[in-house]
Amino acid sequence: MEKKNIDWSNLGFGYIQTDMRFVSNYKDGAWDEGALTEDATVVISECAGVLQYAQTIFEGMKAYTTEDGHIVVFRPDLNASRMADSARRLEMPVYPEDKFVEAVVKTVEANASYVPPYGSGASLYLRPYMFGSNPVIGVKPADEYQFRVFATPVGPYFKGGVKPLTLKVSDFDRAAPCGTGHIKAGLNYAMSLHAIVTAHEEGYDENMYLDASTRTKVEETGGANFLFVTKDNKVVTPKSDSILPSITRRSLMYVAKEYLGLEVEEREVYIDEVKDFAECGLCGTAAVISPVGKIVNHGEEICFPSGMEKMGPITQKLYDTLTGIQMGRIEAPEGWIKVIC
Ligand SMILES: Cc1ncc(COP(=O)(O)O)c(C=O)c1O
Repeated sequence: MEKKNIDWSNLGFGYIQTDMRFVSNYKDGAWDEGALTEDATVVISECAGVLQYAQTIFEGMKAYTTEDGHIVVFRPDLNASRMADSARRLEMPVYPEDKFVEAVVKTVEANASYVPPYGSGASLYLRPYMFGSNPVIGVKPADEYQFRVFATPVGPYFKGGVKPLTLKVSDFDRAAPCGTGHIKAGLNYAMSLHAIVTAHEEGYDENMYLDASTRTKVEETGGANFLFVTKDNKVVTPKSDSILPSITRRSLMYVAKEYLGLEVEEREVYIDEVKDFAECGLCGTAAVISPVGKIVNHGEEICFPSGMEKMGPITQKLYDTLTGIQMGRIEAPEGWIKVIC
């Protein structure tokens, strides 16, 4: 299969239309078979549930080429089950988890010429999503839905080298207790836009959100979970019912314990103890881990000993091991790598 003529290593993170996408519709209480289509547009009623009451959920994952030339995706079964959780919380019909994985596979196969080569650092980003499509004017769940998966090639996250981030402890809240912070709903991202634009205007890379009820505990950023490393090399991640259960974070905690033999802890993390950690990183599909160099908490600067030039040593080991597993250089735990072709 001939690859598209794309300058893979200079790609950014933007939408590039690819050849095919998968579409399935839900009507009269059932999903249809679904099919691939060339049509990249969505035509829905002006009164569609998604447009009026934001009934939409999504996932984000990547297909890439391993060292031995296979096209694979990383743990798509976890994206499928997280999307099912998101659907249940927004009163949407669940797209069956096995069909979700099949749809992802079909979309990647149909766009295989857009999967960047091994070593480029680029990948084919996959966006499964679902929305209420029929007219809804009273506030209630839609009766009809559309599930889609599209693909778009994206460039390496760390172009020109790793640069530790500077974060601001936000005065805005991302998620309410007993709200929707633990699911991947479009509404969580709409309400974070003002906070991130404000943080960028003030010169910060990201927001650190605290728990909304006490503003004492670390939650997450707008698009990644936190990992901390203690001075005695224990890996700590915040436990909260209002953060998104990151697939990357769960994988890194496993890698820390089972591959690197480190002690791991998922527990409440207080903002007051953050100054005592040796390393801090953000984990998510986009970067695997982005190191954090500095956090500013209302004038108080927390500077991690790992500094503003490179990842800390444990963060680097975690990054190298998980990317090694993903790229086929290190043997993966059973079921983590779905080989497409
Ligand atoms: C709010 C939020 N937290 C965490 C993550 C990281 O999750 P994952 O590792 O599954 O990409 C994401 C990105 O999907 C996110 O949007």
